[in-house]
Amino acid sequence: MSEKLWQKGYEIDKLVEGFTVGRDYIVDMALIRYDIVASTAHAKMLLKMGYITQEEFHGIGSALEELSDLIEQGKFQIKPEEEDCHTAIENFLVQKLGDTGKKIHMARSRNDQVLTALRMLYKDQLKQIKEAVEDLMKAVGNFSKRYAKVTFAGFTHTRKAMPTNFRSWATALRDALKDDLKLLSVVYELIDQSPLGTGAGYGLPIPTDRKLTAKELGFKKIQRNPIYTQLSRGKFEYLILHLLSQITYDLNRFASDIIFFSLPDIGYIELPKELCTGSSIMPQKLNPDPLELIRAYHSVIVSRMIECSMITSNLITGYHRDLQLLKEIVIDSFQDVKDLLAVMKKVFEKLRVNRISCFNSLTDEVLATQRVYELVKQGVPFRDAYRLIAKELGGGEK
Ligand code: ARG
Repeated sequence: MSEKLWQKGYEIDKLVEGFTVGRDYIVDMALIRYDIVASTAHAKMLLKMGYITQEEFHGIGSALEELSDLIEQGKFQIKPEEEDCHTAIENFLVQKLGDTGKKIHMARSRNDQVLTALRMLYKDQLKQIKEAVEDLMKAVGNFSKRYAKVTFAGFTHTRKAMPTNFRSWATALRDALKDDLKLLSVVYELIDQSPLGTGAGYGLPIPTDRKLTAKELGFKKIQRNPIYTQLSRGKFEYLILHLLSQITYDLNRFASDIIFFSLPDIGYIELPKELCTGSSIMPQKLNPDPLELIRAYHSVIVSRMIECSMITSNLITGYHRDLQLLKEIVIDSFQDVKDLLAVMKKVFEKLRVNRISCFNSLTDEVLATQRVYELVKQGVPFRDAYRLIAKELGGGEK
């Protein structure tokens, strides 16, 4: 038996059914374990409020545990006709417990249920992203220590500019990632509010204990306004994707640097062979494909952020099925960014700096600004010193 939660004596058209479910029954396999934990907390609240008996509570608790074990062992699949994990859970409870199972949905709606499970998943994923960023920062820090003093010509406009060194370069990435972590903690704090108990988006016509479920589920506080709670589905996903895009932005810029610095003509950096792929026709080629993909993924994440904003803006307040499409976008993005961070970490562990190429890059013109300031120190006005050196080098401003 696999009834829909809204089953009420008519059959939905098969084409429409398949279309509205989409890939949700697959995507929701990532969500179901959170929904089980949330359902257990919800049952505890129903018990406290006197809506179910102790016996019913125990029945629900052990059935949910059984479901959890089945999922763990890979023995449970949400059926397409069940639509989503919320329906699959209720169907399982009804199948196991009969009328008791039918009581689980009292004082909740799928709208606050999906919000709750999603926020629990987001919190877990944000913690993993934080760890992956910290791991990368460590690898960048070690790289910086290894090559701190190696000086090379830095670039503006893709033309040699002034001397810099690898400590300064690597610290730039670490500082950027540190800022991303600050942003992450703000995003985390916003997500760390329990939506459970806001029902379909307009509260519930019976008393509930929202603080109890929030505490059980480890939310820092409850999100009070039910309309804003619904409104935050979309807004919070947009925030998460913005955060992820800030991280990929930093990875993108440094991936471009590494590609450029490892050009044989520049040669500051050597990419070991095991980080490169080859060409099917040109036997000599060792290509920086992982860095090119890191670079490209920034565009992927930004497009998903825009997708998220486009899907949800212009909707009036309240739940809309449009929101369902956000799940896959965000879940995929978390995985992609974790992969990017792991690959970038590997790159920093294996990169080698070619000290000779770096030294050779410090040609006369790269030291021009220093020379201007030597004259300034001797009392020559800056603009005069600048022009003097420019004339000597025989070039205009680059
Ligand atoms: N799969 C749905 C989603 O992700 C669950 C909520 C369905 N609610 C509804 N009112 N149709 O949004």
